[in-house]
Amino acid sequence: MAELLYEGKAKQVYKTEKEDEYLIHYKDDATAGNGVKHDKFEGKGVLNNTISCIIFDMLEEAGIKTHMIKKLNERDILVKKVDIFPLEVIIRNITTGSFCRRLGAPEGIVLDEPIFEMSYKNDEYGDPLINDDHAVALKLATREELAYIKETTLKINELLKEFFLSMNLKLVDFKIEFGKTADGTILLADEISPDSCRLWDVDTNQKYDKDVFRQDIGDLIETYKAVLARMQNK
Ligand code: C5P
Repeated sequence: MAELLYEGKAKQVYKTEKEDEYLIHYKDDATAGNGVKHDKFEGKGVLNNTISCIIFDMLEEAGIKTHMIKKLNERDILVKKVDIFPLEVIIRNITTGSFCRRLGAPEGIVLDEPIFEMSYKNDEYGDPLINDDHAVALKLATREELAYIKETTLKINELLKEFFLSMNLKLVDFKIEFGKTADGTILLADEISPDSCRLWDVDTNQKYDKDVFRQDIGDLIETYKAVLARMQNK
């Protein structure tokens, strides 16, 4: 068995024989509220890996540089080795979630422009919201790297919005992560799945994402299966 390098809430990262490649394994765990709520859903890892690979392929084709090398099997992908920036990069197109809780804003307002946010990935401090100056001061990234991350994230938002709209889903918000290779290239890393995006049906506003688990309002596996089915039928 390959050496386990890192275990997160929903994935594991393993070394491979190649110095510059890692293997990511998708688990069935679901967590919410920084791990306070935790459950397992048989088949969730398979669904998220499948969905994320379809999205990363689409983004690569559109010219976004990602960590993806290839899908190995239903739970594993081979990726380029990167050092992950300890940043959760978030875009909001419609208000909900922590934005409304933090600012007292009403839910469901369609924003004139996307809102770009960054959180410092730090469980102990509850992933606090930070700005560029904080990130530079803490040496999490340089100004140039942050500029590239923001520009690329806004492009990804446009591509994802169009992609999901073609399956009759509104992209409400999402979180992505970036990493840096040994030669300094910045790549989109981690995953893009219903765990990390909010997706609402265009006609009914029904939720097709992890909020069904966070809020106990639906069956997670059936919801994720429905997202994949829409992707495959579009
Ligand atoms: O909770 P909040 O409203 O800040 O979430 C914004 C977006 O980021 C949502 O799509 C959520 O699924 C995603 N997110 C995530 N991982 C986190 C925090 C938020 O994928 N740790």
